[in-house]
Amino acid sequence: MKTTVISGGTIIGADRTFKADVLIEGEKVVALGDKLSGDETIDASGLYLLPGGIDPHTHLEMPFMGTNTTDDFDTGTAAALAGGTTLVVDFVLPGNGSLLDAMQVWFQQAGKARSDYSFHMAITNWNEQIFNEMPKVVEAGINTFKHFMCYKGALMVNDDEMLASFSRCAELGAMPLVHAENGDVVFHLQQKFLAAGINGPEAHAYSRPPEVEGEATNRAIMIADQAGVPLYVVHVSCEQAHEAIRRARQKGMRVYGEPLAQHLVLDESEYAHPDWDHAAQRVMSPPFRNKTHQDGLWSGLAAGSLQVVATDHCAFNTEQKRMGIEDFTKIPNGTGGLQDRLSILWTFGVLTGRITMNEFVAVTSTNAARILNIYPRKGAVLPGADADIVLWDANAKKTISAKDQYSAIDYNVFEGIEVTGLPVTTMLRGKVAYTKGKVVAAPGDGRFISREPNMPVARALSQWKEISAPRKVERKPEHMPIGV
Ligand code: URP
Ligand code: ZN
Ligand code: ZN
Repeated sequence: MKTTVISGGTIIGADRTFKADVLIEGEKVVALGDKLSGDETIDASGLYLLPGGIDPHTHLEMPFMGTNTTDDFDTGTAAALAGGTTLVVDFVLPGNGSLLDAMQVWFQQAGKARSDYSFHMAITNWNEQIFNEMPKVVEAGINTFKHFMCYKGALMVNDDEMLASFSRCAELGAMPLVHAENGDVVFHLQQKFLAAGINGPEAHAYSRPPEVEGEATNRAIMIADQAGVPLYVVHVSCEQAHEAIRRARQKGMRVYGEPLAQHLVLDESEYAHPDWDHAAQRVMSPPFRNKTHQDGLWSGLAAGSLQVVATDHCAFNTEQKRMGIEDFTKIPNGTGGLQDRLSILWTFGVLTGRITMNEFVAVTSTNAARILNIYPRKGAVLPGADADIVLWDANAKKTISAKDQYSAIDYNVFEGIEVTGLPVTTMLRGKVAYTKGKVVAAPGDGRFISREPNMPVARALSQWKEISAPRKVERKPEHMPIGV
């Protein structure tokens, strides 16, 4: 098997930073050391070596709000590789149909992926068929089930459906995910603003205040606790939701929180922009918040109360956004970000001192691998791991522009922002997939990454729930009231 050495680089892990050559054999890292040799050498002097980024939250080629996301597994994963991300975890959306049928559609669509990919399964209603199909989904390599607490009349599930699904997850050793917003209250506020004639994108933010996110996060945490499962809260955007997660973790609950790169740097003023298209292009749920919430999210990443930074890449072009020109509730919700996640986080996180380089690696790769149960195959530069490695130039600069992005949409929510820190080369399982500004991986080079159930926290939690479960108190007859 062909061997490659990446020489002279400095490895940044979630736990430490150290200089070492990396020896790759086939698709795997086989050794780290000094002065290693192989059939081919890639010089990484002056560069950092990062484990390939993992974006745990994308929507490629997904039907949503009357249209389909513009990026498919080809353009979306090209954007990922160009930004240093080697694995995307995408959401299978079954609508009201079979989970297994939807899974086949996603497997077929993902055949053209250039990066590796894995799936979460969405649970958008509840019935016997879904109950029976969930174990087959787990057997197929999907150990996470997503629940939308909003999008009333479409994807939303209510409390008894969530409790039933979370309980099924507990039996299967799987983990539920939630989009936490109170869908009934959002619906009510949407109607209120429309009736008042406030129908522009600004009303999207008005109708989704932080309180609706905080309430739903608390509720999901309580339901997960009753069901005895860990919980992963996607796109945490505000202090109210973060506070719920922090409090749960302090009580020993296994709850994870995922802020997005967009929420960390863009704020609610985007929706007041005089240009309708500009504001609509930034419509996503939850909406961008004010600077106080942003500061809280950054602190959470530093403190460990939030673990993972994703993009929720759900890209619609301007034409699609204009479906909501008369009515903000019809603007397809979602923004892009796959190509820019690492650079944005390096620039606004590492270079400002909000997070360390090691924390950067933790939140862009290692933590996601651990939580999703694929560590250390993914998420680390270690012997035995897949050779997904980013050669990172911490001094390289660029101004983000839709003109030179791999995403197929016609704008970029980070347009005009100058970033410092860019991938020079991205390697996917030992092969160069992106180098010097060009994606060289072909459609189909990506591989499905199967994820086993019974992740360590799920096992530990079910053991603890068993030990601490309420038990009947056995009372002797002499301690019982007489004659009742
Ligand atoms: O606005 C968003 N976030 N769109 C994608 C679907 C979802 O809610 O995750
Ligand atoms: Zn969502
Ligand atoms: Zn999403």
